[in-house]
Amino acid sequence: MNDTPWTDVIGADELPTDDVIGVLVAGRDIALYTAGDAVYATDNICTHGHARLCDGFLDGHEIECPLHQGKFDVRDGTPTCAPVTEGLRSYPVKIENMRVMLQLD
Ligand code: FES
Repeated sequence: MNDTPWTDVIGADELPTDDVIGVLVAGRDIALYTAGDAVYATDNICTHGHARLCDGFLDGHEIECPLHQGKFDVRDGTPTCAPVTEGLRSYPVKIENMRVMLQLD
């Protein structure tokens, strides 16, 4: 069982529809993605360079980095298109009482 505490991030009504936003929480830059009814979270900084993925383009479950167009699967941070080769850290997400909660550690 995962005992990591859940961190309240934003209201569920602040999430975009089928898009990405960046949030700063507990000193970390996190990207939140929505794809249909699902919500995913990863680190917001690309593993290839210093670009914020929340400034990129979300297509389904794939985020395209705004700087060199590398891509990641937002469900688990797996790189899916060059030049990125290193995955993003991803975080468990749940919606509770209309709040978006993350397990950050
Ligand atoms: S900084 Fe993201 S692909 Fe280069």
